[in-house]
Amino acid sequence: MSPNISRRTVLKGAAGLAAAPLLGFTGTPRRGPVPADPFTLGVASGDPSPDGAVIWTRLAPRPLADDGLGGMPARTVEVQWEIAADEAFTRPLQRGHAVAAPEDAHSVHVELAGLPTAGEYFYRFRAEGYLSPVGRTRTTPAPDALNATLTMCAASCSNYQHGWFTAYRRLAEEHPDVVVHLGDYLYEYAASGERVRDHAGPETVTLAHYRQRHAQYRTDPDLQAAHAAAPWLVVFDDHELADNWAGDIPKTPDAGFPARRAAALQAYYENMPLRASAKARNGGMRLYRLVEWGALATFHMLDTRQYRSDQACGDRYRSDCAERFDPHRTLLGTDQQRWLLDGFAQSRARWDLLAQQVFFAPLELAAGPARGANLDAWDGYVAERDRVIAGIADSAVRNGVVLTGDVHAHWAAEIRRHPEDPLSAPVATELVTTSITSGGDGSDTRADVEAILPENPHIRYFSNRRGYLRATLTPDELRADFRTVPFVTRPGGPVTTGASFVIPDRLPQLL
Ligand SMILES: [Fe+2]
Repeated sequence: MSPNISRRTVLKGAAGLAAAPLLGFTGTPRRGPVPADPFTLGVASGDPSPDGAVIWTRLAPRPLADDGLGGMPARTVEVQWEIAADEAFTRPLQRGHAVAAPEDAHSVHVELAGLPTAGEYFYRFRAEGYLSPVGRTRTTPAPDALNATLTMCAASCSNYQHGWFTAYRRLAEEHPDVVVHLGDYLYEYAASGERVRDHAGPETVTLAHYRQRHAQYRTDPDLQAAHAAAPWLVVFDDHELADNWAGDIPKTPDAGFPARRAAALQAYYENMPLRASAKARNGGMRLYRLVEWGALATFHMLDTRQYRSDQACGDRYRSDCAERFDPHRTLLGTDQQRWLLDGFAQSRARWDLLAQQVFFAPLELAAGPARGANLDAWDGYVAERDRVIAGIADSAVRNGVVLTGDVHAHWAAEIRRHPEDPLSAPVATELVTTSITSGGDGSDTRADVEAILPENPHIRYFSNRRGYLRATLTPDELRADFRTVPFVTRPGGPVTTGASFVIPDRLPQLL
């Protein structure tokens, strides 16, 4: 049974609330009462530690308000939070209160501490007489613990316009210990008018737009269920800001880009269960970080957007671009690359998971609209990829696994010591999760990919369906199940496993 999303309970008298003045969808927030149930965006948790996690909510009685402020009055609101050992809250463990402020779009990030390790906990919030849905979270095992099993789901690319979030619902029903979101959590585009569902508002440019877009996504009940099911580890990709942005460079010339980037990052922090250390400052945010799951797994959460060089050759797909071999080109930036390699050197984990955005293995399509190498991915940053592979191969890393999103299809690949040389030794593996919805229903084959598989023996699996990745980690093996749903343009539908692979301990191959 997934964490039961308790029906919101109105604790105050309904008559008193009905008499409260309602704010219009576009009205300027005023001081005054919260006009309706503010818990329309659900709850979330993230970045667990041995004794805590972040729990999150955001108050928004009118989630689609054009000013991005969710229909909240322009004042701070006290929010109580509660942690219990059981879903009915008969065994309460901790209580406290936080302040939701207009300058943070009335978001609340509470960093819990003092909870027992490797535990399952339930949390909820209360504000202005309203009670939030219930979320489930976890603490991680003690730093030296290796006896646990970790069930992880990874997801990416959930375009609201392309379909229903059935895959998020099925992911919630898996009861994972942790969910890793690899980016493209939302898309910046204006409503197209011809898709399954329409975005509210124009293309996101201002802080109000990004806040409104996050709120719209969070009203989706399947996405709310996925957040309530487990703590999430999140990193963004490009569409949380704009298509294929790189560092401080937009894909297309845009004098307002610094302000747009700052707005997108602020809204991202406000809407994600991140620790205060990630809070956006001076137009940037520190998103790369380590999350350790005892001695079993270490997640290296990577940011491949904020510090990267401009796109090589100015084009997304090319086969004739020498610039991509330039040793100075970087996806990670100097500081993050050093941090990653230091993390490898100090690793004590059985599994080192690189949670990142763009395709890591070499891949060059010979036909179709995406012909050539994807220069927005690691194929556009070849020298830095070589340094990361060497870092895995020549360090304390025992089992390196790259987790990837971005490309709207399931892929599995073996990473070789010299990735272009099929005879060199495999040193790591890559598991690429498909999109939740982006691209629509998908298909069973794709001619451009089928054509290259015979010449790319390092690529072991491809599926052009929507879904997510489920992985079960033990000290002896990582089992990966590529989960797919048959359609997203209609609600509902089952989930099935398209393929499964086992990566044995100390054997970087997909069996
Ligand atoms: Fe995407």
